[in-house]
Amino acid sequence: MFPTDRPRRLRTDGVRSLVSETDLSASDLIAPVFVDATTDERVAIESMPGHERVPVSEAVDRVEEVLATGVEAVMVFGIPESKDEVGSRAYADDGVVQRAVRDIAAETDAYVITDVCLCEYTDHGHCGIVEGSAAEDPTLTVRNDETLDLLRKTAVSHAEAGADMVAPSSMTDGMVGAIREALDGEGFAEVPIMSYAVKYESAFYGPFRDAADGAPAFGDRRHYQMDPANRREALREARLDAEEGADVLMVKPGLPYLDIVRDVREGFDVPVAAYNVSGEYAMLHAAADRGWLDLEATARESLLSMKRAGADLILTYLAEDVAESL
Ligand code: PBG
Repeated sequence: MFPTDRPRRLRTDGVRSLVSETDLSASDLIAPVFVDATTDERVAIESMPGHERVPVSEAVDRVEEVLATGVEAVMVFGIPESKDEVGSRAYADDGVVQRAVRDIAAETDAYVITDVCLCEYTDHGHCGIVEGSAAEDPTLTVRNDETLDLLRKTAVSHAEAGADMVAPSSMTDGMVGAIREALDGEGFAEVPIMSYAVKYESAFYGPFRDAADGAPAFGDRRHYQMDPANRREALREARLDAEEGADVLMVKPGLPYLDIVRDVREGFDVPVAAYNVSGEYAMLHAAADRGWLDLEATARESLLSMKRAGADLILTYLAEDVAESL
């Protein structure tokens, strides 16, 4: 009798799910939504099939659509009516995110998370204040400490509008501590921070930059986002954000960085989020369109893999489709 050890015994339909080690559930998922102040009708996002930018007047409807699939949390991104050198529409009381969040918080039961960044709001498209004038000079870099003031204001304005959680994504050193202090000072000690702690300078963000009109007008983001070559540095980023008070640590992108998700899971005791980014979504759709991949199956397998790697939460453009298929 050989072999004696037969893993196949536990793969029959009857027992498979009993011994399954990882579960995917709609309650783990966060759906990104795009609210656009420049339009009064929905605009399809070409590079992200199935996703649209919606006007502020339809933000509540858009979130209701998400909730109807069983997903309970949304991440709100805004496209402002105008941009300037310091991204002032990011922290305006009547800014696009502030208006949308006020409505969503008043009229829905969604858990509302906001992306705290400046790149969609600055005319140069960088995630903060740029040195000197915003002339087309690729050697210009983002001023770290001056940017912190704008992030503080942005996070507080989101909390005032009713955001349940804020998610700083600009990779500014000290952003979590600065935002924590500002929120606490304004009476928002109960609002958690999910930090985009380990955010790589990734080419997988391409479709998002179309969607949110947030591509840098010159240069790139390598001076502030992480080098894809680095793993040890990810732990350093995660440690700094945890020490500054991050309630959730995010790794971004997701699938190409599962080793980092695992490292952060093992190194820290706060929940870990993975961001299954726009390029990951676009790849599956493009291949499925050609009949080369099964979209539903690969979508589920992608998200399951992030959970297996150690993610507790997943931000994904697949949230609604996957939740509906569960
Ligand atoms: C910054 C931000 C970006 C994404 C989320 N927040 C863009 C960037 O850093 O270039 C990318 C998300 C995605 O690709 O899905 N506001």
